[in-house]
Parts: sequence; C-alpha cells; structure tokens
Amino acid sequence: MNWLSPSILAADFNRLGEQIRCVRDNGAQALHFDVMDGMFVPSISFGMPVLESIRKETDLFLDVHLMIREPIRYVNEFVKCGADLITVHYEACCDVMQTIEAIRKTGVKVGLSIRPETPVSVLRPFFGKLDLILIMSVNPGFGGQTLMEGTYDKLRELRALMAANPEMFPDGQYPRVEVDGGVNLSNVAGLLEAGADTIVTGSAVFRGDIEANTKQFMAILSGK
Ligand code: DX5
Ligand code: ZN
Repeated sequence: MNWLSPSILAADFNRLGEQIRCVRDNGAQALHFDVMDGMFVPSISFGMPVLESIRKETDLFLDVHLMIREPIRYVNEFVKCGADLITVHYEACCDVMQTIEAIRKTGVKVGLSIRPETPVSVLRPFFGKLDLILIMSVNPGFGGQTLMEGTYDKLRELRALMAANPEMFPDGQYPRVEVDGGVNLSNVAGLLEAGADTIVTGSAVFRGDIEANTKQFMAILSGK
C-alpha cells in the first residue's frame, strides 16, 4: 500500500499541531521528520524536543530522517522521543551495518538513504536488514528544491536489483521504497510507476491549502 509521509520541515511551526492533525485527518499514514546537523548537510533544522512534543500529539507513524554525521550516537535518544522508524544516510556512517543493527536492537524500524550521487549498488549488502530504503531526489539539506530527473531510473534500478536478489529477502519481506525531495502533484504518479511506494513531500503539502493538497496526493496514491 502506498504511503504519504508529509515532511514537517515545510510546515508553519506556529501552527504545527493543527497542520499535523490536518494531514492525518486527510489520510497521511506517516509524518516525515527531517533532522539536519549543519555538518552532513549545510542547514540545521530541529531535534529531540520537537519530536517528543509531536509524539504526545499524534498517532501518525513517525518517519525520522537523520541527515546527521555518525547517527549511531543519537539512535537511542530518537527512539526515546518516539521515532517509529529511523533512516540514516549511507554516506554519514563510519560503520553502516553497525548502525543498522543498533537501530534494529531498539525495536524500531530501520531505513537507509542514499544521496543522488550515490549508486544503488551500495545498498545490496544491507538487503534483508532494512524496513525502508530512501532514495533522495534532491541534494539533502533544504525543502522546496526541484526533483532531479535521474530519480526515476534510480528507482527502477533499485527495484531491479531487489528483484535480482530474492534470496536476500527472507519470506519476501521487501523494504518500503521512499522518495524524498521535490515531489509534487505532477510528478508523484511517475514516481509511483517507477517503483516508489512511500512519498515524502513538504512544500507540495504544507504550502497553500493543506487539506486539498493532502486529499489530492491521497487520491493519486490510492489509485483513484
Ligand atoms: C530535504 C529533506 C526533504 C524535504 C522535502 O533534505 O530530506 O524531506 O524536506 O521537502 P520538499 O518536498 O519541499 O522538497
Ligand atoms: Zn527528508
């Protein structure tokens, strides 16, 4: 089933609770929480205290995207604050497998993300250990960017690589394939067709009429 995971980076932080309720009431299954450290990516966003207060307010699946260096250092804190899934960047970990295991040990789900310039092939050793693979469609660090056209082929390549290695997915448990950055109502159908099943979108939901935007995305994601 396709999921919509709106990124609160684009929300109005003066009205965050109301805007989270709006996307939830209109069908979003998750909330995307972009943590930026100003080192792995050039900007700084928000962290544990904001996640903790959101957790108290919503039952949405909290999809935490750590764009931070050496994320293993903060896994337990984000779990304590209420993360349901923690995605780390392949390029940000000294030991990717160790970081994945550290997340799995806590019981929350684990995601692995690659930047646009990182090839899909680097993901193969981690197949079978992941609940989600995040294909970045922009250079991470900012909302409101334009989706990079190579994303469609990258999604197809990932799907093909997974299909070519079925033995790495015991009992056919394939990870969710999430795309993140520059997704909007005109490109989302093409991204689903290319192989994404989990859609992150910030500006295209939180800018303008949030209810209408969410409803339109959900109509496309549910195939209506
Ligand atoms: C970028 C973040 C994205 C971003 C998406 O580094 O990972 O989640 O917030 O925002 P839009 O949809 O506006 O590109
Ligand atoms: Zn993100």
